[in-house]
Amino acid sequence: MAGTGTLHLRPESNRVLSVEDLVVEFPAKGGQTVHAVSGISFDVLPGETLGILGESGCGKSSAGRALMQLPPPTSGSVRLDDDELTDVRGRALRRARARMQMIFQDPVSSLNPRRKVKDLVAEGPRIRGQKVDDERIRASLRAAGLDPDVVWDRRPHELSGGQCQRVSIARALMLEPQILICDEPVSSLDVSVQAQILNLLEDTKQRYRLSLIFIAHDLAVVKNISDRIMIMYLGKICEVVPAGRLARHAAHPYTRLLLESVPEEHLPGGEAPVGDEERAANEGADRGTHRPPAELPSPLNPPSGCRFRTRCPLATDVCADTEPEMRALADGHFVACHHAG
Ligand SMILES: Nc1ncnc2c1ncn2[C@@H]1O[C@H](COP(=O)(O)OP(=O)(O)O)[C@@H](O)[C@H]1O
Ligand SMILES: [Mg+2]
Repeated sequence: MAGTGTLHLRPESNRVLSVEDLVVEFPAKGGQTVHAVSGISFDVLPGETLGILGESGCGKSSAGRALMQLPPPTSGSVRLDDDELTDVRGRALRRARARMQMIFQDPVSSLNPRRKVKDLVAEGPRIRGQKVDDERIRASLRAAGLDPDVVWDRRPHELSGGQCQRVSIARALMLEPQILICDEPVSSLDVSVQAQILNLLEDTKQRYRLSLIFIAHDLAVVKNISDRIMIMYLGKICEVVPAGRLARHAAHPYTRLLLESVPEEHLPGGEAPVGDEERAANEGADRGTHRPPAELPSPLNPPSGCRFRTRCPLATDVCADTEPEMRALADGHFVACHHAG
């Protein structure tokens, strides 16, 4: 079977979320298809933070939204505990969806501008027909680090970006989710505020025993908050790596490329990956290939075989012919590459 495989999945009984062979496609002009996500599988354990890392356009948000069935994926399976979300509709889907909540990149525009904070926070349970008393709203605001007396009657434009993101978190917590999907939750915030929101997410996770899916294009942000990191490229998974192994032991040429573009002091352990540049250049020279071109191939017409091959310093003929399957490198560390490791 072509695909990045499922070797990296953990025993089913341990997982809170199981995603198998997820495909997300969009129709495009001229009868073409955008292959946003092309058959990825991953899982999340209770209390775990899974980081999803990759350049803009690689399908991270499409994958995140497909988990929520917003919209449902083109194909594949999304199982939350024992519920197959791609099978449920209507009220049952709304109930299941409440168990996963999503936080978006742009905190101001993801909130209805006409509503006051007290109503924004209560909205989820109210839509589900629950009566919500003020103390419950206040508790949720406090849990998100906001003073209810200050923000109660404010509207989103009267708050800072960081405060709006806290409101989004308070809103999500009202539904007592099992999983919080954070899609670039700090990318639009100032650096000083980023750290505060990351700390809040970490505290929230511990306090409510949540699992997090943390999506970002910024490696420095993902590595600190995640237990396990999944690296995506053009709708596929390249590598799944325990966060602690990322800086020193990343194996996929794409992951190494991402690491090279991060200043050393931002990496855990403070050292650049071993042997990278020189080895890649030498191997490239041996095989008559060149350093990768900068532009990204299109998801309208992804390369055959390994989708990274057109930018890869290690690429050979097999990479064009055969899609690499996930293989194990170490405990919890997997790579989909014919040559890495
Ligand atoms: N609703 C949509 N309609 C058409 N194409 C889309 C839609 N949403 C995303 N895409 C395309 O799918 C690909 C993946 O996008 P996205 O999931 O937003 O990536 P990321 O979040 O990693 O930046 C991109 O090529 C993007 O242009
Ligand atoms: Mg995105």
